[in-house]
Amino acid sequence: MGLFITMEGPDGSGKSTQIELLRDYLSNKGYDIIVCREPGGTRISEAVRQVILNKDFTEMGHMTELLLYAAARAQLVEEVIRPSLEAGKVVICDRFVESSAVYQGIARGMGTNLVYEVNKFAIGDTMPDVTFFIDIDAKTGISRKKQQAELDRMERETLDFHEKVAKGYRSLAKMYPDRICKMDGNLPIEEIHKRIIAEADKIISR
Ligand code: ADP
Ligand code: TYD
Repeated sequence: MGLFITMEGPDGSGKSTQIELLRDYLSNKGYDIIVCREPGGTRISEAVRQVILNKDFTEMGHMTELLLYAAARAQLVEEVIRPSLEAGKVVICDRFVESSAVYQGIARGMGTNLVYEVNKFAIGDTMPDVTFFIDIDAKTGISRKKQQAELDRMERETLDFHEKVAKGYRSLAKMYPDRICKMDGNLPIEEIHKRIIAEADKIISR
């Protein structure tokens, strides 16, 4: 079996930046790397992403949102993640079930138990070997995002929502300290990278 790494954190916390650096580091060491993002990563999941993040769909219900994220995830697991792990590859995914636990479970108030229960249907026993959580406050994350591109439906949520997300990640990391590894997102990019590869090397050598 390969290695399944996920990157989590509020919008603008630096996940994509760290994934690129981690990908280069591990591929220089000779690993076969697959990088994917959620929601997305397959033709069907990308189509579902267009529905979920469409800024005009302001009437979307919380249950619809939860199920659409799970549907996009089910397709990604079946088509990309599971076969890649079975082939011995390293899969690095930008967000996974922990995003649903925080955004839908905590920030939307649906409950983390319900979220993990629903997602069992989508992912089965395909859980990450390690999850890096980049901890940053809501304002910093959103202001970094605003400089990048037009905000999507989720990014347009209130500051209060994004604060619940930032706090939600912290409580989830406390609930699962064995599999969620917290990083200080205010540190310079290179410093966070060094800490991530130190952890990744530890897990690989196990
Ligand atoms: P995410 O994928 O979590 O939304 P990105 O990696 O796209 O975040 O980063 C959002 C923006 O913040 C980018 O412009 C990136 O260069 C910048 N950034 C990322 N990490 C840091 C950091 N540690 N310190 C300052 N700026 C950062
Ligand atoms: P993405 O575009 O990767 O966010 P960013 O690059 O801004 O961090 O993710 C899209 C949005 O979807 C993001 O606001 C987080 C949200 N999301 C959920 O609410 N639940 C989920 O299960 C996932 C995977 C993402």
